[in-house]
Amino acid sequence: MIPMVDLKNQYLAMKDEIDRGILEALEKCQFILGPNVSAFEEEAAGYLGVKHAVAVASGTDALHLALVAAGIGPGDEVITTPFTFIATAEAVRYVGARPVFVDIDPDTFNIDPRKISEAITPATRAVIPVHLFGQPADMAAIETVCREKGLALVEDCAQSFGASAARGMTGTIGTFGCFSFFPSKNLGCYGDGGMVTTNGDDLAARLVSLRNHGSKVRYHHAEIGYNSRLDEIQAVILRVKLKRISAFNEGRRRVAGLYTSLLENTGVRTPVEDGKGVHVYHQYTILADRREQIMDRLAKVGIASAVYYPIPLHRQEVFASDYADVSLPVAESVASRCMSLPIFPEMTEEQVRSVVSAVKEVLA
Ligand SMILES: Cc1ncc(COP(=O)(O)O)c(C=O)c1O
Repeated sequence: MIPMVDLKNQYLAMKDEIDRGILEALEKCQFILGPNVSAFEEEAAGYLGVKHAVAVASGTDALHLALVAAGIGPGDEVITTPFTFIATAEAVRYVGARPVFVDIDPDTFNIDPRKISEAITPATRAVIPVHLFGQPADMAAIETVCREKGLALVEDCAQSFGASAARGMTGTIGTFGCFSFFPSKNLGCYGDGGMVTTNGDDLAARLVSLRNHGSKVRYHHAEIGYNSRLDEIQAVILRVKLKRISAFNEGRRRVAGLYTSLLENTGVRTPVEDGKGVHVYHQYTILADRREQIMDRLAKVGIASAVYYPIPLHRQEVFASDYADVSLPVAESVASRCMSLPIFPEMTEEQVRSVVSAVKEVLA
């Protein structure tokens, strides 16, 4: 059996340190916004190279709070990609703004910067690129557009912890970086968790207030905020994993490199690195015309696979009627042919070879 991600094995390799840290946190009984949360924020900001990191309850909340802090609201438009997890667009709707979906680049599957420029209207206030599957979006181009037009740049880094673009790691370039620590993410905790990064002192202070009921001083509430705090136990786990994130990401790149060389000339399209940043392969996603047959074959021999994402957001039931006249052919085509193979830092060469053999059986 080869899973999409082997969290058990990874936990066992760090068990002593994680268990000890959790027990210490239990003894201290400071469960919310305790010392491990502050230490994690400092360590994560240091690792990424950004001034502030504010831990929150999930990646979805990170996006939501970042948009609130950016002052986005009803009547505003936010340009984003249709080829992402729903949370990217949900956050836009939470603040009452309208997501404007533009097409993706056929090679990287990330938002196409040229399409961003074409979609800007007087109502546009922000752009949310997603560093999909661990590959940084074209930040140099996106940053230029945002600067010229005075738009907030909110990076969705849910899948890209530690991936670097030309000018620094993802999450350090835009107005905000929004991270998810969902367990299966390349940096994941053992529950829900998230984080917003920013270089803005005032923006960081606003986020600290927003995540804690609009309060800077206990029982004094300057604004309506939210309950969105990372808990101490998750922070313990994240601190242990953060120390290993470079090795984890290198492990993912090793596995991806092996897949790509073994899948050469088989008829599937392997991931394209655009050379503008470092891909951390949160997912290894191929394009295959016979996707369903390949997935069936893999399932028969005990190998997991998944489709991220089968339906672009403008075609999701919740959005379909609002976007009926929107056609985004690249996203639609990619969604109909993409599939992701198992990838995790601990994956062995033998496991990669087993996956590739099963894929090849269908393509032969
Ligand atoms: C691209 C993207 N954005 C946002 C999210 C939301 O993160 P969370 O599940 O932590 O709320 C996820 C992951 O689930 C994601 O993959």
